[in-house]
Order: sequence, then C-alpha cells, then structure tokens
Amino acid sequence: MSHTKFYSKAYFYDLLFRFKNLKNENQTLIDLYLNLNGKLPTSFLDIAAGPGGNAIEMSKRGIASSALDYSKDMVEYGLEKAAEENTKITYFQADMRDFKLDKPVELAAMFMVSTGYLLTSEDMLAHLKTVAQNLTPKGVYVVEMPHPVDLFAVGKYTLAEWEEKWQEKWEQRWEEKWEHTEGDTTVSLQWGDERDPFDPITQIRNVTARLKFKTPTDSGEIVDHSSQREYSYQEIKALIALSGVFEIKKIIGDWNISIPFSNEKESRRMILVLQKI
Ligand SMILES: C[S@@+](CC[C@H](N)C(=O)[O-])C[C@H]1O[C@@H](n2cnc3c(N)ncnc32)[C@H](O)[C@@H]1O
Repeated sequence: MSHTKFYSKAYFYDLLFRFKNLKNENQTLIDLYLNLNGKLPTSFLDIAAGPGGNAIEMSKRGIASSALDYSKDMVEYGLEKAAEENTKITYFQADMRDFKLDKPVELAAMFMVSTGYLLTSEDMLAHLKTVAQNLTPKGVYVVEMPHPVDLFAVGKYTLAEWEEKWQEKWEQRWEEKWEHTEGDTTVSLQWGDERDPFDPITQIRNVTARLKFKTPTDSGEIVDHSSQREYSYQEIKALIALSGVFEIKKIIGDWNISIPFSNEKESRRMILVLQKI
C-alpha cells in the first residue's frame, strides 16, 4: 500500500516535517476561501492528514476541524497531539477515495505529495467526487501537488546554458534528504532515490523512503517502497473537468497567494484552488 511502514512511525514523521509552516499554509487557505466566498470559513477538513498539524492549527483559530488518514497510527498520534496542544479535532481513519463526514465542511485541503497515492485516473475521479460530496455549496478544496518538472525531468539531462533555468527547477524536485534532532532523538529521511523505477505508461514511480532513527533506547533504519502516480498539469485539468464537480479558480506556485503557478523558480509546487460547482 502507501508507505505503510514509514507512516506507522508517526512521531518520527512528525519530527521530520516540523519545517512545515502550518500557520502560513492555513492563512493562505483562509485567504483563498475569503477571496472566493467573501467570508471566513467556519469548518475545515485535512485530507491524508498525517500527524494532523494543519487541522490542529485551524482548530486553534476557532475553526471546527476534522482530519482523515488511511494510517491508524497517524490517526491515534494526531488525536494525542491535539489533546496535548489543548485543542479538539475530529480525526478518523478513512480512504480518501470514499468517505463520508457527519456534516459537510466549507474548506478542505490536501498537502504535499499525497495525491501520488491516487494511482489511477479512476482513483482521482473517485477522490474528487467524494470530496465534493462532503463540501457545502461553493465549498473550496485546495490540493497541493508536485510541480510537473518532477514528472518530465526537464533539466535533468541537458547542460546547455539556456537550460540553466530548467536545471534549477529540476533541483527543486521532491527528492530530498534531511535530518532533524529533537532533544535526544535524531531522525533522518531520504525521500526518493535516483534509481527508483518509473513507468512512463502508468506514470507510476516506485518511491523509496529511507528513515533512520536514534533514540536513547533504540536505533534503526526503515526502508519502505511504494507506488506513487505523477500527474501532469494538462491531465489533472482534464480530470477535474471530467469529474464535473469542481471548477479550477486559481493555481498558485507555493503557499503564497501572490506566487502564480509557472515555470519560474519561486513556483515550487502546483497548488490547485478548486470550488465546488
Ligand atoms: C506525505 S503524508 C502527508 C501528511 C500531512 N498531510 C502533512 O502535510 O504532513 C501522506 C499521508 O497520506 C496518507 N494516505 C495514503 N493513502 C491514503 C488514502 N488512500 N486515504 C487516506 N490517506 C492516505 C498516509 O497515511 C500519510 O499519512
């Protein structure tokens, strides 16, 4: 399935992703919603939420927040984290392709590379439809996806001077390695490996996640491989149109409303702002 071994280490995952600027991401979501609907959102859903950081931060702002994830360990961890931070979220285990909330929400979001776990176009269509069913009329869904430079590898094989811009963009791709220390615990992650096989027909890469950890009582390495689909802009646009449930209102290149999605260096991601039709 989807890097199950890796995501079962929810605490280590949480340490590794402390660099996420939750406040800024959430403020961008709120601004996008406000611009589209002329009012502030009152409810939020964090899809494939992992440790649930975005839902927890939204809840602290007084927005009724819920979260879902396939991993039981992430759900348990997120609920504990919310309690530790003296806030309340509704967090449940579910598949992002088919779920039902008790009550529809006004704003939903999915962060980082989670769309990669929607392996087929049918999975993506099922996902878009289920999200739309759980949104209120004019509800907004913001989806962060890798920049398509990751898929096309533009810049990887060319060295001509005029290609410099593409090399810079290629270097921003979502293949990364970093380390984080918190007290006496050190964790490191290598996400992706040069040798990860990519199937150009299915657009699926078998992505390697390599987690190393060291605590006062334990140390080890977890190597996990999982399929991830890479989407081009043209096909996600076509799939959204085909779904018949969302309209693309804006596309931004990072978690900043004034950075448009483009081939420029500052556009590191493809963040789609969708509104329910
Ligand atoms: C890259 S993490 C993102 C976590 C979090 N949103 C963040 O920004 O840190 C991807 C998450 O997707 C979850 N996931 C994978 N497949 C899923 C599915 N079919 N339905 C729901 N969650 C899924 C994983 O368990 C994992 O927690």
